[in-house]
Amino acid sequence: MRLNKTRNSVVRKCAILGALAAAALALTGSILRADGAHDSAASATLFRSKCAMCHGPDGAGSEVGKSLNIPDLRSPAVQKLPNAELVEIISNGKGGMPSFKNSLTAEQIHALVMRVRSLGRKK
Ligand code: HEC
Repeated sequence: MRLNKTRNSVVRKCAILGALAAAALALTGSILRADGAHDSAASATLFRSKCAMCHGPDGAGSEVGKSLNIPDLRSPAVQKLPNAELVEIISNGKGGMPSFKNSLTAEQIHALVMRVRSLGRKK
């Protein structure tokens, strides 16, 4: 009888803990998903409005970009550059590439680096 009671309460505690853990997991999952979606949607919009006129919507290079001898952002030559160098190029410009440090925040520049990476993965 006593043993049974203990077991019951252990079972009950486990069920409660299990439910709590599941709720916590579901919550973090939805927060992470919401964050990720927000981030990529925002950086995709930024890329379209600030970069696509030269780099094209997919990073391959627009007509304007090609006339400037633009590199394909998806190419290994660009993808092998470390994040810090991409940040530096977007911030300060390079050759025909304009500088964005006065028109974009550090977070936006970081989001664009992630965007360049995801274009590279899509090729
Ligand atoms: C006016 C046209 C133009 C715009 C707008 C532009 N770029 Fe560029 N971008 C260039 C050109 C030209 C180059 C090649 C520079 C060079 O190597 O001399 C380049 C190069 C790059 C490179 C690769 C540099 C390398 O060393 O291979 C990255 C990354 C890049 N741009 C990202 C961006 C991002 C992100 C944006 C939007 C914030 C952007 N660019 C907007 C013209 C542009």
